[in-house]
Amino acid sequence: MVITIDGPIASGKSTAARLLAQRIGFYHLSSGMLFRTLAYLLVKYAGYKEEKLSMPAQKDIEYYLNPARFICSFDDTGKLHVMFKEENIVPLLKQKQIDHYASLIATDAHVRQALLKLQHSLAQSNNLVVDGRDSGSIVFPNAAIKFFLTASIEVRALRWQQKHKKLGYDLSLQEAINQIESRDDRDKNRKISPLVIPNGAIVIDNSDYSIQETVDIMESFMHR
Ligand code: DC
Repeated sequence: MVITIDGPIASGKSTAARLLAQRIGFYHLSSGMLFRTLAYLLVKYAGYKEEKLSMPAQKDIEYYLNPARFICSFDDTGKLHVMFKEENIVPLLKQKQIDHYASLIATDAHVRQALLKLQHSLAQSNNLVVDGRDSGSIVFPNAAIKFFLTASIEVRALRWQQKHKKLGYDLSLQEAINQIESRDDRDKNRKISPLVIPNGAIVIDNSDYSIQETVDIMESFMHR
């Protein structure tokens, strides 16, 4: 069974997905992690520069996602592990620069198709809460329940600022707003799989809710 959570950057979808998955005993699949992984591998091992990331060669995508060297799995706590040549690279993917690179490769049709296949294969043998931008619209249009999380730009900018502070980057509120607006623009206006509210999705504006309250609301829909 698959539950999807989509939403713009800093809408809280990743944390909500992780907590919801824990509560209901599902695995949490952050599809953004898959985009980050591929971006990281292309830059680190294939020597891609920023300009080339929006059009990676298909042979490189296939090479780096080949199960002979690339394996996704979940540990006992439900956490995603991405092993490349036997190293779990998830801890290396949180950097701001990788997030930026991921948003560049995310515009490429071959990348999206390869990662869609990967997500389908993970869903074959696991119950998943998947978060992303196109999880309920394109990747799992028949998901059991679809959520779309959002919040006001001010609230999202504050969350973005706090998240970056923890990573050691100080941003002014205006810088955070600018970055969020530019990312929203890229996510919503790209030709392939733009961020949309999926058909049949339950929309939750969590500007005034804590993350626990957000997950409470989501869980309440599961019992209806
Ligand atoms: O969820 P995240 O911030 O870790 O995602 C990183 C980037 O990957 C983000 O800029 C958009 C892209 N992405 C996407 O295009 N589609 C998804 N399903 C998930 C992420």
